[in-house]
Amino acid sequence: MQDTAPAMNAAIQASAHPSSADLSALFDPLRIRSLELKNRFVMPGMQRGWCVDGHPPRRLADYYAARARGGVQLTISECVAVDHPSASRTRKYGRLADDTAQEWGRCAEAIHRAGGHFFTQLGHDGALLAAPDGDYFTGSPVLSPSGLMKPGTPVGNPASLADLDAVKAAFVRSARIAKHIGADGVEIHACHGYLLDQFLWSGTNRRDDRYGGPDIADRVRFPAEVVHAVRNEVGADFPISVRFSQWKLTDYEAQVARSAAELAVLLEAFVRAGADVFHVSTRRFGDAAWPDSPLSLAGWTRKLSGKPVIAVGGVGLTVDMVESFSGQETQGPAEINLPALAHRFQSSEFDLIAVGRSNIADPQWVAKVGAGEWDLIRQFKLADLGDVAEEAREASGKAS
Ligand SMILES: Cc1cc2nc3c(=O)[nH]c(=O)nc-3n(C[C@H](O)[C@H](O)[C@H](O)COP(=O)(O)O)c2cc1C
Repeated sequence: MQDTAPAMNAAIQASAHPSSADLSALFDPLRIRSLELKNRFVMPGMQRGWCVDGHPPRRLADYYAARARGGVQLTISECVAVDHPSASRTRKYGRLADDTAQEWGRCAEAIHRAGGHFFTQLGHDGALLAAPDGDYFTGSPVLSPSGLMKPGTPVGNPASLADLDAVKAAFVRSARIAKHIGADGVEIHACHGYLLDQFLWSGTNRRDDRYGGPDIADRVRFPAEVVHAVRNEVGADFPISVRFSQWKLTDYEAQVARSAAELAVLLEAFVRAGADVFHVSTRRFGDAAWPDSPLSLAGWTRKLSGKPVIAVGGVGLTVDMVESFSGQETQGPAEINLPALAHRFQSSEFDLIAVGRSNIADPQWVAKVGAGEWDLIRQFKLADLGDVAEEAREASGKAS
């Protein structure tokens, strides 16, 4: 294992950034329960569409390892479906069950050998993007809180209490497997309009039992129970991240928490359930959480929860993910918003920064940023997304 952190630190201090941003603090270590990170750079979950029946190919392990060698300290897997037949809409995305465990273990091992750490992102598709006329969900039930893809668009069935118990048990089973194969933690996917987020958002949660209602304290109950059950399974030392977002693939303006007071209720439920880290998924890391607040959603989350926070969105790019999916190229340069990133980090808005598309484009992105080698960074191009961009475009077309 190669330790690049001290060299990067020295290089950062020595090199004058074009916009005089001091990024050195992003190369400081951080400890979260049993996890010891040498810097603050994370690669967030990003589907590549390379899996075969939920099994990751060797190519995925190599791809993760290359980013770990390039300085990413924490790699979060693409969203991996939990072990339940309703959890996944396509065979090309990952699944974590007994039959796929070995290959996911190969990913963990490759990342460790390259000096990084690995979280498995565990999720369930819910009713998102289920196209009744398409080839998704062949033969499996479509479950969601209220049988809605989005307000006014019914898809599948509202989950019964027995269904929810089975889904919760599937999260627990897959978390157990994640720990067993050597993952350093898990991330519970409760964002972007997928199952757990469909509980959080009033637009898709119309239940009148204890898991729904106008009060966010009720809507967070099932996702928090999932986190609690996973915590009971994995023990006290194993880190659990919870990823949430306001935006959905079906509605970019949606809001789960309409105010800081609602956000506080949501966070408290997750903290009580055992969350260690919040990964706050925003399209641009610097966006204000609400129109009357300069603080980002990550900043509010850190302030209200007191937990370490991962921020994300558009680092090194001029276009956000949604703009990429709609066909816009980034205009560069690579260091475009790094001064703003440094400023927000120094203002304690977040503890870790996730860098998605820039890491897809250049496996050495973190190392090059550390060394101030701006001109050597390979800029992200739409073509780097491969088939996944086409699918996302198609899927958001179906969802809109
Ligand atoms: C191709 C692609 C696939 C993605 N798949 C996932 C996923 O599986 N799970 C998830 O939580 N987010 C997913 N995302 C969102 C990213 O994790 C990230 O939040 C987003 O790309 C913004 O970061 P960036 O601006 O640095 O790219 C995906 C994004 C892209 C571009």
